[in-house]
Amino acid sequence: MSMFDEDVRRAGTNCVKWDGREKIFGREDAIPLWVADMDFRSPGCVKRALLERVEHGVFGYPFDMTGAKQIVCEWEKKRHGLNIENEMVLFSPGVVDSLYFAVQAFSEKGDSVALQPPVYGPFLHAIEDTGRKPFFNPLKLSGGKWRMDLNQLEDGLKQGVKLLLLCSPHNPVGRIWTREELTEVSALCRRYGCRIVTDEIHADFELPGNRHIPMLNIDPEAICFVSSTKTFNLAGLRCSSMLFGKGEDRDTMDRLMNSIGIGEINILGVLAQSTAYAEGAPWLDELLLYLDETRRTVEIEMAEKMPSVGVSRLEGTYLMWLDMKCFGMSQRELEEFIVKEAGVALSSGTSFCPHGEGFMRMNIATPRKNVLIAIDRMSVAFKKISTL
Ligand SMILES: Cc1ncc(COP(=O)(O)O)c(C=O)c1O
Repeated sequence: MSMFDEDVRRAGTNCVKWDGREKIFGREDAIPLWVADMDFRSPGCVKRALLERVEHGVFGYPFDMTGAKQIVCEWEKKRHGLNIENEMVLFSPGVVDSLYFAVQAFSEKGDSVALQPPVYGPFLHAIEDTGRKPFFNPLKLSGGKWRMDLNQLEDGLKQGVKLLLLCSPHNPVGRIWTREELTEVSALCRRYGCRIVTDEIHADFELPGNRHIPMLNIDPEAICFVSSTKTFNLAGLRCSSMLFGKGEDRDTMDRLMNSIGIGEINILGVLAQSTAYAEGAPWLDELLLYLDETRRTVEIEMAEKMPSVGVSRLEGTYLMWLDMKCFGMSQRELEEFIVKEAGVALSSGTSFCPHGEGFMRMNIATPRKNVLIAIDRMSVAFKKISTL
């Protein structure tokens, strides 16, 4: 028994993954393998630090974040080999917020901003909601691996794309980009004066045999967003970090955030983050082994029970990208079938910008038995209607 096998009752805690099932999927008993948070308790050290702080009972304005920023730098150094000084860090409530800020700080209304679909939906929202134009640079599946299409990206760069929003590691296809891939895309963007903003929120989910490379280690002018919230399951505490290579960019971002009224960060969020980074590494190492074993089990089960479904190999993240085109259903039919007939709630491929049709994303960060039951239920349901 692993600590991650514990059935933590989340229903009734106002959490979207469990309590949102009826409203979002129309079925409150569906096994929720959708939105990207985990059904695991955060490390004990985080709970202890929060309890102690709450016990004090006074929650006024904070004073100095230097120490908290230093802890982020130490984590980046130890975990990912990135040397960065604490003055190059800014805090932000969340990475989605940071994407919106970055698009506004580093491009103008009407500019083209590139993204690589299928990709986390808010990438597109951050571009469109702020009056920029998306340039789609779709990933391509080649030799069983999702890859960037740099030739097509170059067409966009020639047309004046100002910014590339890169997801690294990539949600939903689960790739950890190699040093070579990151070097190539960075060199190409530099050639055309296009800035790179990387969302590295999944950086700490390096499944065994894979190594995440911070973009700042390749491109010293990149703007990178990291967060302890995915790593240690703290999303509701709303605290993340922005890392800058250039002081000028940090100042531009700082001005933008001040101009739209983003002030201090939540004191409990920062405390949770600092504690997790300082003391949570052994917990994370165990989690990665657990997730990798679940990944391996899913691959075996899917090959046996639903062999015509394409399962992208997970290198990073805990999100598995399933190609379900084999069932010949429209996206709407696929979504409804999986909920109604199998009682499983997955994320629809089309919520990941264009190019997600025919796919569903499955979150495996839950006790393994939940994933196994979900696969069983789906295979039984699909067998009833299919000869595949
Ligand atoms: C790639 C990516 N970026 C950002 C987020 C959300 O970040 P935050 O909760 O810090 O806004 C997610 C959550 O799933 C994600 O997958």
